[in-house]
Amino acid sequence: MTINVRDLRKWKTEGKNFTMLTAYDYTTARWLDRAGIPLLLVGDSLGMTMLGYSDTLSVTMDDMVRHAGAVVRGAPNALVIGDMPFMAYHASAEDAIHNAGRFLQEARVQAVKMEGGGRVIEYTKQLTSMGIPVMGHLGLTPTFVNQFGGYRVQGRSDEAAEQILEDAKALEQSGAFAVVLEGIPSPLGQRVTEALTVPTIGIGAGPHCDAQVLVIQDVLGLNPDHVAKFVRQYAKLGEAIEAAAKQFDQDVRNGAFPTPEHEYSAR
Ligand code: KIV
Repeated sequence: MTINVRDLRKWKTEGKNFTMLTAYDYTTARWLDRAGIPLLLVGDSLGMTMLGYSDTLSVTMDDMVRHAGAVVRGAPNALVIGDMPFMAYHASAEDAIHNAGRFLQEARVQAVKMEGGGRVIEYTKQLTSMGIPVMGHLGLTPTFVNQFGGYRVQGRSDEAAEQILEDAKALEQSGAFAVVLEGIPSPLGQRVTEALTVPTIGIGAGPHCDAQVLVIQDVLGLNPDHVAKFVRQYAKLGEAIEAAAKQFDQDVRNGAFPTPEHEYSAR
């Protein structure tokens, strides 16, 4: 069954928790779709996970559209969301419309995500009025890393918490179908979740959000570096890859592979 944005509001009404995972390629998207993950986010975190950058700022729309198209082709059932990268909507509403349009037209995603409040609230209204569903993203928004002076929990002071709450309400008012809450205190995650009729999707925002999202490399144990405290690893695929590659290398060097049964034959 193909998931659509209306399903999310229904799940919120029913009090049903759900999941989103990031995906950046066709093969992984196929497995996640088979697993029944309802939402796949082609996050600009692909800058780190796929392209080896130290942050998301160098990611371009061309990068995003290429990867998003691959995920869409691999996931016929999930709702696929394209993450608008840095500078895709920062200069003007025209950029926001053009680039969100590229996501839907070229990659065939069903929705886009933008970080922040401020002008993004107005862009959300404009995009949704053109039939482009928008997911909001507040809190520790990674493209603001320089403004924040690092990856720090946001919304700690009363004033900052109120701002996040107000932005979330404004995004909902403007037509956002869901709001990602990243790196905020758990009580604030709960307040925002209770204040909205659309679902909140948390990452490091506590257990009260309507949904949870994680980066797929973290979930699968594919990230050999530091893993954030809010992550749970559900597999150790990195270690499995290393062991398999070592075994292949050893077998070839020892003459244990290939053997006659591995000879190429037309099927
Ligand atoms: O780019 C990304 O992966 C994200 C999620 C962590 C929400 O924005």
